[in-house]
Amino acid sequence: MGSLFRFDLGRYADTYDLPVLFETGTFRGNGVQLAIDAGFKKIYSVEIIEEYYLANVERFSDEPSVNLLHGESAKCLSDTVGTIKENILFWLDAHFPGADGGLCGYNSCEDETIRCPLETELEIIRSLRQDRDDVFIIDDLSIYETGNFGNGPLPPHIDKPVNAGLDFIDRLFSKTHHIVRLYDDEGYVLLLPYSLPPKLYVRRTLSEVIATAGVPVSESFIAAIGSNEELNDD
Ligand SMILES: C[S@@+](CC[C@H](N)C(=O)[O-])C[C@H]1O[C@@H](n2cnc3c(N)ncnc32)[C@H](O)[C@@H]1O
Repeated sequence: MGSLFRFDLGRYADTYDLPVLFETGTFRGNGVQLAIDAGFKKIYSVEIIEEYYLANVERFSDEPSVNLLHGESAKCLSDTVGTIKENILFWLDAHFPGADGGLCGYNSCEDETIRCPLETELEIIRSLRQDRDDVFIIDDLSIYETGNFGNGPLPPHIDKPVNAGLDFIDRLFSKTHHIVRLYDDEGYVLLLPYSLPPKLYVRRTLSEVIATAGVPVSESFIAAIGSNEELNDD
């Protein structure tokens, strides 16, 4: 399981004008807490497991900026994101319902659009939020692709989605967003709008980004971020 802590959320919010954060997969609420700490004006988070949802309702009951949703991520995205006027930072981290907390197995859910909902989520967001400068941080690239991940490959007992690979991201976002793969932890994909040079506000150095990329980082990408002194190692 990756962590939103890898990313400097405050800098993303300032640079890309992102007052709202939308998370799929609330689990223990750690992503919500990081979003509160970073000062997002409005935070949405959806969780399919009722037990986790209710625990977070309790945990964040004093936080007016937090809007917790219970249900399938795809359904909640459909109901919500079309009405949000501001740019959104999406943290897409829903997969394997209940498995991280030990409530059920990683392969227990037979409906692939619920077990690994990323493709469906992105299709919904794309259809409801065309021409928006939203930013996406997607966790667990190792579910979809192979690579030199910091925490190793997806364990063999976890089934990959039937449509493994990320062709759907190219199909949906290559015309509007830089698509950046990071190989820390279980891997991340960043989708950064073309309106700005890509910013990697990752908690480590540029040289480490390149050294651990696992696939060649294009020269234009390095040029675009090379003078980016905020690229941090804190
Ligand atoms: C890796 S955990 C999320 C961790 C959290 N985002 C964080 O940053 O600390 C994944 C969560 O997604 C939930 N989940 C899995 N599939 C889902 C779906 N289709 N819709 C909503 N939530 C889902 C799981 O039950 C689990 O709590």
